[in-house]
Amino acid sequence: MSRFFSDELNSLSPYTPGEQPQDKKYLKLNTNESPFAPSNEVIKALNTSKIELLRLYPDPECTLLRKTAAKRFSLSEENVTAGNGSDENLAFAIRAFCSKDKQLAFPDITYGFYSVWAKLFGIPAKQIPLTDDFKINIEEYFNLNCTIVIANPNAPTGISLSVDDIEKIVVNNPDGVVIIDEAYVDFGAESCVPLINKYDNLLVVQTFSKSRSLAGARLGLAFGSKELISDINRVRYSFNPYNINRLTLLAGQAALDDEEYFSYCTQEICKAREWTAEELKKLGFTLTQSKTNFLFAKHCEKHSRDIYRLLREKGVLVRRWDAPRIENYLRITVGTAEDMKKFIEILKSCLEEL
Ligand SMILES: Cc1ncc(COP(=O)(O)O)c(C=O)c1O
Repeated sequence: MSRFFSDELNSLSPYTPGEQPQDKKYLKLNTNESPFAPSNEVIKALNTSKIELLRLYPDPECTLLRKTAAKRFSLSEENVTAGNGSDENLAFAIRAFCSKDKQLAFPDITYGFYSVWAKLFGIPAKQIPLTDDFKINIEEYFNLNCTIVIANPNAPTGISLSVDDIEKIVVNNPDGVVIIDEAYVDFGAESCVPLINKYDNLLVVQTFSKSRSLAGARLGLAFGSKELISDINRVRYSFNPYNINRLTLLAGQAALDDEEYFSYCTQEICKAREWTAEELKKLGFTLTQSKTNFLFAKHCEKHSRDIYRLLREKGVLVRRWDAPRIENYLRITVGTAEDMKKFIEILKSCLEEL
């Protein structure tokens, strides 16, 4: 740290992203990316004539992308804004709807970035423990009179809440915004987007990084009332109005339009997830009920640290945390059926050696 770094941020611990190793080719099951290439429509949309237009700034209003998204989700364009990944939309929303006097509440085990943003923006955080089986007790989120962020399904547990339960949280917090982070919703959970026109305190955030195979393009959407979206845009235009580059805008539109490919990819992942879950159980793992493109699993005998290390040596990357309650779990991204067969074979050999 230099002597110039802000005193206020002295205790900031930045978010640690999953590894993106450049040394050799791994079976990469550590950052919940899609194993499938982007849609062919995306590839067609990014042609040379579009690349030549990179000399011009992109449309800061993301007009065509918002139009496509509004149509796709049966909303109006004023209900949608775009971010550089859902990370950016989440950061803008937390900046817009929290303050020193309006804290941010979220589960104790969840996406690690929520607490980092709270710290970065000087916002008090209220962490609400999950139950022993990693569930959210919705009543603990009633009448908090603060901003709430919930990943649904949750990460890294993979467990989802029903829309009815989320609606109860929204109804019971009339004076606070409830942000639902739907990064993984397309793999079997229910989306809250249909509730947008019913509540002025609900914001839903989705990403193109998982189910639409565009993690490298950095694109996310936020859905909410016209007023909530305008508040987020106020923060966005005070930070970086050209936050989505031209190629990403085109890629996003094309990906949203290709519903058939989206259904194919998400169904394949769900099938591979169920197959892998059964194989893991046979090998002595217990798992949470995942509605995502990853599995959260713990072995009955071997420690996750040792399994993680040996998998890595054998060219497989998964994710784990040295954090209370989850230090013995592995989070395994679901790849193609072929990836997962290979993974199970290598995992078997690891367990034999340990
Ligand atoms: C729960 C959750 N929310 C948000 C994100 C960020 O997604 P994006 O790539 O759109 O920034 C992730 C990424 O893994 C995530 O797990």
